Amino acid sequence: MAAVIPLSALESRPRHEVDREADARPKALNERVVPGRLSELAGGRSSGRTTAAVSLVIRAQSLDEPVVWVQPRNGSLYPPDLADSGVDLDALYRLDRRGSIAERLHTAVREHENVSQEFKAWVADLLDFFEATKQCLDREEATLADSDRWTREEATRDCIAEAAPIVCERLNRASVELTDFVADFEDDEHGQHRRFYRRHLCKFYHRAPLLHRAYYKPLGYAGDYEMMNMLYRDHGEGDTLFGKVLNVYACQEAAAQANINRIKYFNQRIRALLSENPERRLRIASIGCGPSHEIRNLLEQHPDLGDRIDIALVDQEERAIEYCERTLAPLAARTGARIHFIGESIRRLLTARSLGQALGKRDLIYSAGLFDYLSDRSFEALLRALYSATAEGGHMYIGNVNLATNTTKWAMEYASDWYLIHRTKEQLLDLARSLPTDPRILEVESEPLGVNLFLHIAR
Ligand SMILES: C[S@@+](CC[C@H](N)C(=O)[O-])C[C@H]1O[C@@H](n2cnc3c(N)ncnc32)[C@H](O)[C@@H]1O
Repeated sequence: MAAVIPLSALESRPRHEVDREADARPKALNERVVPGRLSELAGGRSSGRTTAAVSLVIRAQSLDEPVVWVQPRNGSLYPPDLADSGVDLDALYRLDRRGSIAERLHTAVREHENVSQEFKAWVADLLDFFEATKQCLDREEATLADSDRWTREEATRDCIAEAAPIVCERLNRASVELTDFVADFEDDEHGQHRRFYRRHLCKFYHRAPLLHRAYYKPLGYAGDYEMMNMLYRDHGEGDTLFGKVLNVYACQEAAAQANINRIKYFNQRIRALLSENPERRLRIASIGCGPSHEIRNLLEQHPDLGDRIDIALVDQEERAIEYCERTLAPLAARTGARIHFIGESIRRLLTARSLGQALGKRDLIYSAGLFDYLSDRSFEALLRALYSATAEGGHMYIGNVNLATNTTKWAMEYASDWYLIHRTKEQLLDLARSLPTDPRILEVESEPLGVNLFLHIAR
């Protein structure tokens, strides 16, 4: 709604009229101009409209509000006068430049022209593949609309089983082709190609709930505990048959499968250590534990091992810890496992020097899906802190995605805006050289795909 504020009335209203207003105080101009509402300052030639508008600009700038001044070409605005009055001209100019449609359009067109014809043709081909498969799967789904629920669900499972291999083959190939196109790009080329790719392809990729969540990051980052849950449960989820098939594709990509393989990997490491130490309860810690499926899996498959473990689960995400409590506390009660749920950022524990207090000495400390977000400096600092929390004779396993084998790197970045710090075996070994004492064992292992590396350190 627009308001007209007659400046003449503001200046000349008789005192008794103004006083009738609610607070009996004449409202200042800036109080009458309500934010988010269009206000017109009305007045004749000598009513001081420019002066009034300038005072509003100064007031809005003092509140850090963005301000633009729009006027006809060759309008009356004389910038030095504004500056003299206290207007921040730089801020006004910055917005003015941003406001130039022609300039923005030129930038968009330049960017469009910088994307190579080969890349455009490749995207167009992939886009047509998506259109064709979506059309076909939508039609299949429509034929099931009137069936009973049991028939529909069974037919949907069959459709997914038949369609997924075809879609996966094409999209896995697309990941490799994308790598060939972009792996050697400079940053600005990535920006241009990524925007082009997303403009055309994300509406399809994001039909997969996993990729949608990775891209939109409802908890503020990709790789949250619910994304891990998505990997560990039935992959055929989505709001349409097409979405379900796409989700199966997303969950079979190299990085996703490597993630799933972690469960078995840690399960085996824990059981091996338990059988090496048959006499006592093992003290374990999982750092950045997420939903802790490996522990759930271990206790469900081997309930007899419950009274052999004491585990600290650390995650900065309150919801992840709540999820662990809900799923694991009943299992702990049934099996005798001791589980400590620590909803705290490992960085905070480090800076507050309370890591030792929270963990004590542990026989096994592991972390997966956390160190590949840390810079080398933070990696080394956390590694040293965890090493000091490892008991003599104890082990650490630190996961990091492998630079040399993750064929999904570029697809993750382009389609899901999901960035990891990939590292090689040698880089992981180098980072471990910052430890204060030489470990008994220093090696790099991996899950079967070789995509998730694990720095294994024994004290
Ligand atoms: C990719 S998930 C991996 C979860 C689990 N380790 C797994 O393999 O399934 C990473 C987890 O680390 C947690 N995380 C990230 N930064 C953290 C920090 N500074 N301190 C503690 N947890 C953190 C996230 O909340 C998330 O649950």
